[in-house]
Amino acid sequence: MEEKWWKKSVVYQIYPRSFQDSNGDGIGDLAGITARLEYIRELGADTIWLSPIYKSPNDDNGYDISDYQDIMTEFGSMADFDAMLEKAHALGLKIVMDLVVNHSSDEHRWFVKSRSSRDNPYRDYYIWREGKNGGLPNNWGSCFGGSVWEYDGKTDMYYLHLFSKKQPDLNWDNPVVRDEIFRMMDWWLQKGIDGFRMDVISLISKPEGLPDGEPGPNGYASFQLSANGPHEHEYLREMNRRVLSKYDLLTVGECAGVTLEEAKSYANLDGSELSMVFQFEHMEADFHPTLGRYAEQHKNLPRLKEILSRWQRELDGIAWNSLYWDNHDQPRVVSRYGSEKEEYRELSAKMLATCLHMMQGTPYVYQGEELGMTNYPWTSIDQINDIESLGNYRAFRDRGYMNEEEGIRMMRARSRDNARTPMQWDAGPEAGFTTGTPWLPVNPNYPVINAAEQIARPDSVFHYYQKLIALRREKDVIVYGHYELLEPEHPDLFVYTRTLGDESLLVICNFSEREQTYEIPAEYRGAEILIANYPVPAPAGTLRPWEATVLYRS
Ligand code: GLC
Ligand code: CA
Repeated sequence: MEEKWWKKSVVYQIYPRSFQDSNGDGIGDLAGITARLEYIRELGADTIWLSPIYKSPNDDNGYDISDYQDIMTEFGSMADFDAMLEKAHALGLKIVMDLVVNHSSDEHRWFVKSRSSRDNPYRDYYIWREGKNGGLPNNWGSCFGGSVWEYDGKTDMYYLHLFSKKQPDLNWDNPVVRDEIFRMMDWWLQKGIDGFRMDVISLISKPEGLPDGEPGPNGYASFQLSANGPHEHEYLREMNRRVLSKYDLLTVGECAGVTLEEAKSYANLDGSELSMVFQFEHMEADFHPTLGRYAEQHKNLPRLKEILSRWQRELDGIAWNSLYWDNHDQPRVVSRYGSEKEEYRELSAKMLATCLHMMQGTPYVYQGEELGMTNYPWTSIDQINDIESLGNYRAFRDRGYMNEEEGIRMMRARSRDNARTPMQWDAGPEAGFTTGTPWLPVNPNYPVINAAEQIARPDSVFHYYQKLIALRREKDVIVYGHYELLEPEHPDLFVYTRTLGDESLLVICNFSEREQTYEIPAEYRGAEILIANYPVPAPAGTLRPWEATVLYRS
């Protein structure tokens, strides 16, 4: 395999709004990030993915961009950005920017002009349609609830928005739009940034004719119908040829609806499109079969293993995986697949980290994951800020699928706001995030879970992540080794091997608080323990609650 820097990287994701406030307005900002860069270096990550910091009216917290070449007022100025980039580079940290170009904000000057008349030059920057039979142009439902179509009285037509109505979809079939986007990307790359995380990039090429689909329980066809459209790979290859290939970058496509076969193009090792993709199959392993994300769900470990293992096996040597449990759109993994119980929280956080970080691919650590941060105990819908949670809750409530009490339960388990509560830095007021009032409440467990306490304690989750990251730098088998799943049907154990030449690893993870019996394969008996989440090994043939052990042979 060709040696690319990003194959050995560990990426740390920052959600700027919730990372560190520097001026007491309760909103994280660029100066706050700059002040915390040493923390990320201490953890050992070498690359930072910054969620959007561009000018935005914040309908979707920065994923609705009104100026791609300016900074969000609350986050600071371009000078603050340049200072952050310079310091990051001086510390040896690379900066990967979020690129949100499936849609812009409706307040972007392109859209303001586009909607002004039917025949202005910006009209075709977006996707406008006439109504059909006195109704909507098609039956697609938005990711945030309701139709994807918004009627605009000024010109008596509808525009398409796969997300909120303040996020109109750009028309990638218009070559002028592609020129604009590629020029803008190049402008950032000239500033010296190190790559892009491409927001819902699998949705940019819409299917011919925007055909109706089978309606789901919310009454609409899934917006994912528009994933991996007819010109998807053509447009990414054009982007690659005209922009990306001129630089040495990490590019990761957030690919809603991506299949393994598609990923072999998106993330092909020939470098013709992107470095890697974020796939969603493993995030959907605990979804309800019809209601999806916002419904009671149960852990199904055999299914989770099947999905992750298939991606490990089938991309090996052909394309490159990304590895993640958490990001700004997902509930916290400790609450989802681990345990919030005091005696198990840290053990389970370390077990989950082990399971992910020993796989082939580039691991992503979302802010606070390295501390084992957990979901927030929401008690009221009014506390929720997230447009996706609120939109879907209202849609389900209006169709009689859930009442408010069930809604709150759902928020505790599933809302994106669980990931967005402020970073827990220390045991001081507001967890050291702000001297003011935070825009989302700080999780009340911050006196127990915070960075200062964990940095000072050698057996903390933080130091465990630090060790996992350091091991990846030391052992090629972790980066490149071939993967094989053992015990596929076991309901609680996730066991796999990695092999590269004479080196091999056995990774054993107990996804439960039950003691388990497990006989280590003969060839690993007496092998070196590379890392483990208990201080002393378990008696032979047993595993303790949430135990994780990695054995190494060479
Ligand atoms: C992506 C982002 C998410 C955002 C959506 C629309 O899924 O990760 O936060 O709401 O795209 O931009
Ligand atoms: Ca601030």
